[in-house]
Amino acid sequence: MSVDVLLGLQWGDEGKGKIVDAMAPAYGMVARFQGGPNAGHTLEFDGIKHVLHQIPSGIFRKDIKNVIGNGVVLDPIIFKAEVEALEARQVDVPGNLYISNKAQLILPTHGLLDACYEQAKGNQKIGSTLKGIGPTYQDKIARMGLRVGDILQENFEQQYGALVAKHQRILNYYQFSYQLAEKEQQFFEAVEYLRRFKITDTTYLVNGAIDQGIKVLAEGAQGSMLDVDFGSYPFVTSSNTMVAGVCSGLGVAPSKIDQVYGIFKAYCTRVGSGPFPTELHDDVGEKLRVVGNEIGATTGRPRRCGWLDLPALKYAIMINGVTRLFMMKADVLNDFDEIKVCTHYTLPDSTVVDELPYDMNLQQLGCEYQSIPGWKQELEGVMEFSQMPNELLGYLEYLERQTGVPIGIVSVGPDRTQTIYRQEISAL
Ligand code: GDP
Ligand code: IMO
Ligand code: MG
Repeated sequence: MSVDVLLGLQWGDEGKGKIVDAMAPAYGMVARFQGGPNAGHTLEFDGIKHVLHQIPSGIFRKDIKNVIGNGVVLDPIIFKAEVEALEARQVDVPGNLYISNKAQLILPTHGLLDACYEQAKGNQKIGSTLKGIGPTYQDKIARMGLRVGDILQENFEQQYGALVAKHQRILNYYQFSYQLAEKEQQFFEAVEYLRRFKITDTTYLVNGAIDQGIKVLAEGAQGSMLDVDFGSYPFVTSSNTMVAGVCSGLGVAPSKIDQVYGIFKAYCTRVGSGPFPTELHDDVGEKLRVVGNEIGATTGRPRRCGWLDLPALKYAIMINGVTRLFMMKADVLNDFDEIKVCTHYTLPDSTVVDELPYDMNLQQLGCEYQSIPGWKQELEGVMEFSQMPNELLGYLEYLERQTGVPIGIVSVGPDRTQTIYRQEISAL
């Protein structure tokens, strides 16, 4: 058996949590491979809404193993709060969750460093979630980070103290003022709590599952346009959000990857700073934000909104080898006379291009749009593709033609049940 991957093709918040939860019953294992508490994955079912940050979105389904892989950065304080919220809903987290001993630990000083570096950047701020993601991955690559497995060693406090002392030297260099004592106490309580969980070498666990014929679903966080190598650098996160991150973040070989499900919104959003060619600063952008309830699930910041960006979508499909597209939030476009799609960019010298320019941060990109008629009706009661309004089918066909990839799911609301599957996907 093999690993299927579900990952975001835009700037995050495409609806990954909803779809992983909806598809989880077809799998025996759901695994996060990168990112950390910067993620906010929303699930809705039976009138309950839940936001997960570090715990995989298969956790609400019984008898599914959930894995936090080695590529993840884990904050014990946020982890404890997440588990407690789930246990209040009678979810068995300790029974179904496996944490890689090689996942990196986020210390309280990583969060301080994040804030310190953002402050130092002035008007070049990334707009980080300030969860300590960048500084933790920095320490990993610099070969000085602490890993989850280290909390089981006798000298953990000593190792912690040595790394914090290094962080404090940096904070002092920047003359960054901070309070640490209270967070530090919470951290050690949370580490104690974390020790009770199944901390293990998940590389063997995941590969063992594959060998036993158990289907694994890898759950991406963020989106391809936030990938540290291929996104809108430097306005990105600090991990590989693309499909390659599955191999390095779980320890599975590329030959074990089967389907790559690429998920995108029927329009675009972005939180934080950085280029966003199709961003709308007008009433249409405001309508997308209000109707789509586009508020960040982790930070509560309003999301920037704009039309679908085809050059960026095609690029994300290319680097990930996407085999099926899932289009989310179609219902948000129910009341638009026309829907626009950016097909090309125009450079300041009027050259028309359909590739993402290297310096998309520096230059103001123009967009050429294709207009598509809206369907102007509610999608309540639409259960299958054949019941969709013709204009929605027209939009889907246009995107399939442009990208060359079939659309396997259309999502028409936040609830688990508001998901329309093409037959071949529901059969998987
Ligand atoms: P993720 O980070 O990719 O898991 O996405 P988020 O949870 O951050 O953001 C997606 C938001 O859209 C959440 O509030 C979801 O409940 C909501 N959502 C997901 N799918 C749909 C949909 O088809 N229609 C509507 N209206 N909302 C959706
Ligand atoms: P999910 O998994 C949307 C953005 C931040 C910021 C940049 C870097 O819910 O889709 P970081 O905290 O990683 O240093 O922030 O990336 N960002 C996200 N935007 N969804 C996310 O996750 C994000 N995680 C990080 O807003 O611009
Ligand atoms: Mg999110």
